[in-house]
Amino acid sequence: MKPPSILFATSEMAPWVKTGGLGDVAAALPPALRRAGHDIRVLLPCYPVLRQAFPKAKVIAELPALAPALPPARLLAAEADGLPPQLPLLLLDCPPLYDRPGNPYVGADGHDWPDNGIRFGLLSRVAALLGQDTSPLISQRISQHGWRPDVVHLNDWQTALAPAWLHYEGGAASVVTIHNIAFQGCFDEPLRAGLGLPEAAWSFDGVEYHGLLSFLKAGLQLATRLSTASPSYAREIQDERFGYGLAPLLRHRSEHLRGILNGIDPVVWNPATDPALTVPYAPYAANQLAAKRANKRALQQEMGLDLASDRPLFGVVSRLTEQKGLDLLLALGDALPELPAQLVLLGSGDPELQAGFLALAKKLPGQVAVRLGFDETLAHRIEAGADCFLMPSRFEPCGLNQMYSLRYGTPPLVHATGGLADTVVDVNEATLADKTANGFVMTECGTDALWHAMQRAAAAWHDKRLWQRIQQNGMRCNFSWSHAAAEYSRMYRDALAAR
Ligand code: ADP
Ligand code: GLC
Repeated sequence: MKPPSILFATSEMAPWVKTGGLGDVAAALPPALRRAGHDIRVLLPCYPVLRQAFPKAKVIAELPALAPALPPARLLAAEADGLPPQLPLLLLDCPPLYDRPGNPYVGADGHDWPDNGIRFGLLSRVAALLGQDTSPLISQRISQHGWRPDVVHLNDWQTALAPAWLHYEGGAASVVTIHNIAFQGCFDEPLRAGLGLPEAAWSFDGVEYHGLLSFLKAGLQLATRLSTASPSYAREIQDERFGYGLAPLLRHRSEHLRGILNGIDPVVWNPATDPALTVPYAPYAANQLAAKRANKRALQQEMGLDLASDRPLFGVVSRLTEQKGLDLLLALGDALPELPAQLVLLGSGDPELQAGFLALAKKLPGQVAVRLGFDETLAHRIEAGADCFLMPSRFEPCGLNQMYSLRYGTPPLVHATGGLADTVVDVNEATLADKTANGFVMTECGTDALWHAMQRAAAAWHDKRLWQRIQQNGMRCNFSWSHAAAEYSRMYRDALAAR
């Protein structure tokens, strides 16, 4: 049987728009699915950066106002070359909603755009429409380019409302992937009518959630199949401690929920060919770990750290939020010289954490370096130059950085949660013997556990032969997307069969 055709709807896609892991997933999974034989197209808002990147995008549909709150829009078709095999993109062009500078979700003041319900309501509506052939006029116009997906694949709350229309009006099968259940897209009730959802949708088994319209709850309730970014997270979110209120619903739908571990892009994240590693940085491979020492020195130099070779350098690249547990690291910051160890951190987010890390760098010059902001090149250099990568996340649906770290011979130190638990194997006698030991895992998430794990990592680092074994075990791990693509394929077929 021919692999089902897929519409992959997302609010971000690297390299154009990325605030976190979803951007990377949207850039790598669709090409992997295309290689697996799926006719897949990616729908995303036509942010200014995409308009610039695809000046020749063709208008394939003019959409009238689809509901009282939704402005007219256009659908453009473009091809993302440079991403072999060629990947067709559908850009939802609506300047009043998407022509805004910077971050896709928040304004310059750091607050959510006040009309996010409408912005992503339109994205969800159009994702659904592309999967429908029954609604008159509009779907006729939209399908003029002659393509209708068998399955509509939605990602996170920004597109998770689409299954509501597919459920109430009919259409393609749908899959919702949860990349982070902490973000749910909840809005006041009047938005339901504003987006043109039927009154019948306003119920506990529809889009209503504690008196609000919840995009994510709607998707989890009404999509044909559900997935999340790792097997452990799929179990965790069925538990009150991790479910952010949605655990009962996920338990109810557990037969339809799968955990599929993300992959990483082996071309973008390859220490042997990484274009970020220009002199004095140097590319390297598992059998050339001496070159990694040059990268440490280059990173120390670039970040204004002492050129110390007698202590490990811990690295962090992260959103600075409660999720990532970096407040625990900050609380231990003063004690770093006791290990002793250096720290380099690249991140942005919570103003208090930002200020705290800046103050720490000021207090420990030469030992702690902090760069606030989003910097792709520096992220690659930290992976290459640090000795050990820290991810003490309270929860982590998958996490990509620990996999990048493994590939870069920078053993990760993680909390055993979600995808971190599924990818990092703690160093001990048994795991060293079977050659799976690739990092440091703390079973609790607190300052004591973190300190203890950092001590263990520092001690292991001083044993050069041991450290090299851990590095090489990590560098041998295979996190290619083809495995995940095969599992998504199975889920699509399943969803189609259930329709
Ligand atoms: P999340 O999606 O929760 O932020 P992931 O580990 O899945 O976590 O993905 C984060 C991605 O964003 C990684 O590719 C990481 O390198 C990148 N990233 C996070 N913060 C920054 C930053 N300040 N500068 C550059 N890249 C960053
Ligand atoms: C989310 C999660 C992260 C995951 C990413 C991609 O942002 O926080 O753990 O890797 O999505 O699935």
